[in-house]
Amino acid sequence: CGIVAYTGNEEASTYLLNGLGRLEYRGYDSAGIALMHDHSFNVIKRRGKVSELKEACAALCPYGTCGIGHTRWATHGKPSEKNAHPHVSAHGSIALVHNGIIENYGELKDELAQHGISPVSQTDSELIAHLIELCYVQGEEVNATACSAPADETSGDAVNAMNPSKLVAAVHKACKKLIGSYALAVMCTHEPGTIVVTRHDSPLIVGIADDGMYAASDAIALLDKTRECVILPDKSIACLTEHQSHFYKERTHPLTQTSPQQPPHQHMQELAQTSHAPAQSNSLTQTSPEHSQSHPIHQQLQEFTPEITHITWDIAGAEKGGYPDFMLKEIHEQPRVIRDTLAGRLVDGRLVIDELDLSPEELTLIDRVYVIACGTSLHAGLVAKQLIEGWARIPCEVEAASEFRYRNALITPTTLVVAVSQSGETADTLAAIRDARVRGARVFGITNVVGSPVAREADGVIYTKANKEIAVASTKSFLGQIVSLTLLALLLAQVKGNLRQNQIHLLYKQLASTAEQVECILQDTSRIQQAAQRCYQASSALFIGRGMGCVIAREGALKLKEISYLHAEAYPAGEMKHGPIALIEDGFPVIAVATHGPIYDKVMSNIQESKARGACVIALAEQGDEEIQKYADEVIYIPPVQDCFSAITASVPLQLLAREIALLKHCDVDQPRNLAKSVTVE
Ligand code: G6P
Repeated sequence: CGIVAYTGNEEASTYLLNGLGRLEYRGYDSAGIALMHDHSFNVIKRRGKVSELKEACAALCPYGTCGIGHTRWATHGKPSEKNAHPHVSAHGSIALVHNGIIENYGELKDELAQHGISPVSQTDSELIAHLIELCYVQGEEVNATACSAPADETSGDAVNAMNPSKLVAAVHKACKKLIGSYALAVMCTHEPGTIVVTRHDSPLIVGIADDGMYAASDAIALLDKTRECVILPDKSIACLTEHQSHFYKERTHPLTQTSPQQPPHQHMQELAQTSHAPAQSNSLTQTSPEHSQSHPIHQQLQEFTPEITHITWDIAGAEKGGYPDFMLKEIHEQPRVIRDTLAGRLVDGRLVIDELDLSPEELTLIDRVYVIACGTSLHAGLVAKQLIEGWARIPCEVEAASEFRYRNALITPTTLVVAVSQSGETADTLAAIRDARVRGARVFGITNVVGSPVAREADGVIYTKANKEIAVASTKSFLGQIVSLTLLALLLAQVKGNLRQNQIHLLYKQLASTAEQVECILQDTSRIQQAAQRCYQASSALFIGRGMGCVIAREGALKLKEISYLHAEAYPAGEMKHGPIALIEDGFPVIAVATHGPIYDKVMSNIQESKARGACVIALAEQGDEEIQKYADEVIYIPPVQDCFSAITASVPLQLLAREIALLKHCDVDQPRNLAKSVTVE
């Protein structure tokens, strides 16, 4: 899911709708916005893509200078208008958007039922709105006993001036009850012009601009408004108003315990660390002891000055740049990704990866590697296994993070866990990293997103230099991952002394030359189009290969099913006779990876076996291989390549094949149904 928020002096809906459009890669089964105006919310939601919501807003012309928005990828509850965000609380005072998943949903629902609240949607998110409203009301009751004068609710400004943090306190209190992950943007009718945002294990970035304060799940939704951003630290809270942003984090020790030693002015100094310290209501400090469960906000939270990040990358990099879709644009960016990921890695003939923060001595001790990842990133891991075991001679296992995190893997202090994640925020991968670290492993991250949770939580990180990837099906970051993992394998071989320096140098040069080979593949795609014509009407396809070819086949099959909905299965070619060959009948597409690996002849036999049973064989072969034309119906040629680097080049025509088939089937190649780019829920 993706969330956006804005409060300032401009009309909010234009930004919210554009921002949601940029975040659509995160989910697109329903979308909605809520604008606050005159102490009430105007909520507009639609099932379907953001374009549906835009149409609705164009007709309804909602107005407000403070608002929140959401594009959804369903977890709890099917895609529907009712389940779409924003959600409004039972008494209408709170509206919120949520990205994440709340695990204690049932428990919270029961608790709310005791207060006579029954949710109208099937979502976990709606419960948070009710919970915050309850906490807000409870906070008011506490303040009513503590304050001599009641808050004036007729004027927003007066309320804000008297008690700027009531919504922050309510959000903070409610979040303490949540188990799971969340990024929230919350508005309250009693605090016009204020948006409170917070997060735990889901991303949220605050943008600071002259015309107001912004927040979004991804900087891409902020960049045409501001480049000054705060990557909100986990579990911190920001209170945004037109001209101000205040950031709060949990106090490590309750103020009440330290009060005797610490004079009040010191507390105020702490609160005023930042140039925009909040105006504190003195009455809050006078809460009576019997209300110690509801400590005033400054006793539980302290304000801090956040680090402001200046985002340098260009939004144009995230636009289509003349291509018909993001997927094609990103496929064409791959030669650049290879070059950028390799840049500066060979210094005086030696491989250098300083970011890993492990000495050569520590690296030498590594005796087991696990690569953990999900989806396409997992396939990059399978390439790494072949290289790490082949060159560095270290046992390497590759596991889906969702499996790894729930089993008792063999981990010792000399185990290296390599977590691969394009987004750097996949929930299962993050959980697996945490588990591995608790059990004493060293963890390296390979990610595309600077400052992402994977980057922050790993001991060291290699960035894939793919830049923003928008199409849901991963292409350029996959190649970036393979290049990064290849560098890691070479580094391990270097420190272990398994490869001589001149061998490493030669391999590095061959690796670098894959950039030109990919360029060459991209120049002529006519055979790929012919191959697509042959199989787009099939209901199923089989991808086969051996060794590295088998990994390439797996990624090819995943790409095809992701974007064309054509069922595809990948199999080690040698295993065909143990089952899948039974599927083959006249015209059944078999896509065979037949590059010149050590067992090329065996793959040729498997191709012939398929052909003999009527398969329509599409072969991926190296230029100059005339023989294969005798057995294949279509041959897609790629430049000759070293087997160890064939995953980089041979994956590209299969990406293009998947795209061509998807287009022939009139599928949306950038936003396939049911999928999301970032899966921040388990
Ligand atoms: C989702 C995406 C895939 C991606 C996978 C892992 O399923 O649709 O394209 O490979 O997540 O994502 P990550 O960001 O961890 O690489």
